[in-house]
Amino acid sequence: MSKPADRVFVPGDSAARSVGADQVAERLSEALPGTREIVRNGSRGLFWLEPLVEVERDGRRLGFGPVTPEDVAGLVGAGFPASGHRLALGPVEEIPQLARQQRLIFARCGLAGPLDLDAYADNDGLKGLQAARALTPGAIIEQVKTSGLRGRGGAGFPAGIKWETARKAQGERKYLCCNADEGDSGTYADRLLMEGDPFTLIEGMSIAARAIGARHGLVYLRSEYPDAIRILKQAITLWREAGHFRELIDGADFDIEVRTGAGAYICGEESSMLNSLEGKRGEVRAKPPIPAISGLFGQPTIVNNVLTLGSVPWILEHGGEAYRDFGTGRSRGTQAFQLAGDVAQGALVELAFGVSLRSLIEDFGGGTRSGRPLRAVQVGGPLGAYLGESDLDVAMDYEALAEIGGMLGHGGIVVFNDSVDMARQARFAMEFCAIESCGKCTPCRVGATRGRETLDKIIAGDEIEANLDLLQDLCELMTDGSLCAMGGLTPMPVRSAIERFPEDFTRLAAE
Ligand SMILES: Cc1cc2nc3c(=O)[nH]c(=O)nc-3n(C[C@H](O)[C@H](O)[C@H](O)COP(=O)(O)O)c2cc1C
Ligand code: SF4
Repeated sequence: MSKPADRVFVPGDSAARSVGADQVAERLSEALPGTREIVRNGSRGLFWLEPLVEVERDGRRLGFGPVTPEDVAGLVGAGFPASGHRLALGPVEEIPQLARQQRLIFARCGLAGPLDLDAYADNDGLKGLQAARALTPGAIIEQVKTSGLRGRGGAGFPAGIKWETARKAQGERKYLCCNADEGDSGTYADRLLMEGDPFTLIEGMSIAARAIGARHGLVYLRSEYPDAIRILKQAITLWREAGHFRELIDGADFDIEVRTGAGAYICGEESSMLNSLEGKRGEVRAKPPIPAISGLFGQPTIVNNVLTLGSVPWILEHGGEAYRDFGTGRSRGTQAFQLAGDVAQGALVELAFGVSLRSLIEDFGGGTRSGRPLRAVQVGGPLGAYLGESDLDVAMDYEALAEIGGMLGHGGIVVFNDSVDMARQARFAMEFCAIESCGKCTPCRVGATRGRETLDKIIAGDEIEANLDLLQDLCELMTDGSLCAMGGLTPMPVRSAIERFPEDFTRLAAE
């Protein structure tokens, strides 16, 4: 029998829990002598291996997965063999899909329990905040500008410029709002960070608050994320009790509260989110003014995505120049790519910008789960373009994707096999917009419904050519005339589907 484990780790995030991690942890605690510690750690983001049990021996972590509750007795009985067991994966850090990543935001995720502040500090947490405390707000903003960090929520706006605008804006008080609404299909990186390593987000928010002079921080989270809400609230309390909010803002304290939204997609759009935070209907505000000048309750407000803020501790710890070394062109740093859909190895993959879509899907994702040929990939959430096999060599950065008519969005990658009907996917885009539209402007409110109806006619084989022309007109109107990117970008999946998969729209005409 091999040596006993020092500690055993079973992920406690909602992805692992959804495939039985709680039951595995329960069986382990029954089967193991009481002296052994079972840590509910954050996710490593290797979903096809979940529940991924890790056994620590002499500082090394050996992985086993996917472990079912029924496997536990055998594994414990065999003393968690270092190799030879059908579930043995070897040292977790050496699993190729993890070892090949460049983890800056997610460097700590999975190493410890999400609420273990000592482990956070032991794993280089708090260093960014320490560096920021020694800098003036202006110097913090300079570091962020040097880093080239752009917003990870979708629009890719330079974070440093936004912060500088808010810093200089006049107001009775300033707010920092973290956008954790994460409504895009196929995305989960925000949730993974909040459930697995919430202190990184809190540290990033603390630094951002110091930079812009905001004493009030809010995180806007959707009610569908109960685990993230619970863990983040507990983490904020621990951070406060440890004194890390103290005297951050010109001698005054900072603090963060968590607000829960009901899960409307449009409440992820920053001005709708601000309305929702003010207790109003989640409806888009006309711009200008931009939130950095007049946002929450009319005060200067920064809205940043979880991953934007989660990138900040590393930048302050290592410097903006070091961050710039990652990436390509105007896309600097790393992106948390999220693989979903018909993919064999669903995973969160953090890598520098510039990796090819093919490498993400084939090398990290292992191709399709069904074994059927890949036909389409939607990149960037429900408003992102559908790409085809011939696009797979595109570099995953803001500019390269825009050049082929796509967008990076929040980094979601949804894979479809050859059974997909792209006319129905185009219809889904219009239907999604019709359901989720805030209703403020006509091109989106009415256009999306007319778009869905027109696609219904095309799918039914009714005057296909004429209806396709009409649909193109409608797409142009929505793109040019919508007040926000919801109506403005819905044509992207529709047009890309028509352009790359025309046969799915004309099939009935040919029959
Ligand atoms: C319809 C719509 C939905 C959006 N949903 C989100 C979201 O869920 N999370 C997010 O961070 N940004 C979302 N955005 C982008 C935000 O409006 C905003 O650009 C972002 O929060 C700014 O933060 P960043 O600069 O750090 O990306 C959405 C935008 C639109 C138009
Ligand atoms: S485009 Fe749609 S979601 Fe955006 S303001 Fe207009 S109606 Fe609202």
